[in-house]
Amino acid sequence: MAQTTSLPLALGADHGGYELKEAIKAHLDELGIPYQDFGTHTPERCDYPDIAQVTCQAVLDGRCRYAILCCGTGVGMSIAANKLHGIRACCCSDAFSAEYTRRHNDANVLCLGGRVVGPGLGCTLVDAFLNATFEGGRHQERVDKITALENHG
Ligand code: RB5
Repeated sequence: MAQTTSLPLALGADHGGYELKEAIKAHLDELGIPYQDFGTHTPERCDYPDIAQVTCQAVLDGRCRYAILCCGTGVGMSIAANKLHGIRACCCSDAFSAEYTRRHNDANVLCLGGRVVGPGLGCTLVDAFLNATFEGGRHQERVDKITALENHG
């Protein structure tokens, strides 16, 4: 059972990730995990940086716990999301990385490629991410160094 939290997840996708986002919503509904959908709400073409910005802002403001972003590859979303101060986004297509980016990197955003993973694997990756817990300790020291890079280059 995926870890639940009182705060909803923030979901976002461009047209390349729209169908995967819809599949993830159905999966979260089955699990009773709350989410907020920041779009896109149709399969029409749109720009992933716009969706990354509005979705990640909900995490940075404390309105949402984590964000899950889907585009065609997951890569564009992860590049855009990682430009935002305080966001640690990981593009994953395997369950080990999806789990360990929470355990070791304290990632707060999972990025998935709708043209890379199917709905079944995509939902498995979401579960791996949500079920994992940050281990802290030496990993916190490394995350602090990432924050220092963000602050000072
Ligand atoms: C859109 O065609 C595509 O470029 C986008 O979804 C994403 O894959 C970018 O990284």
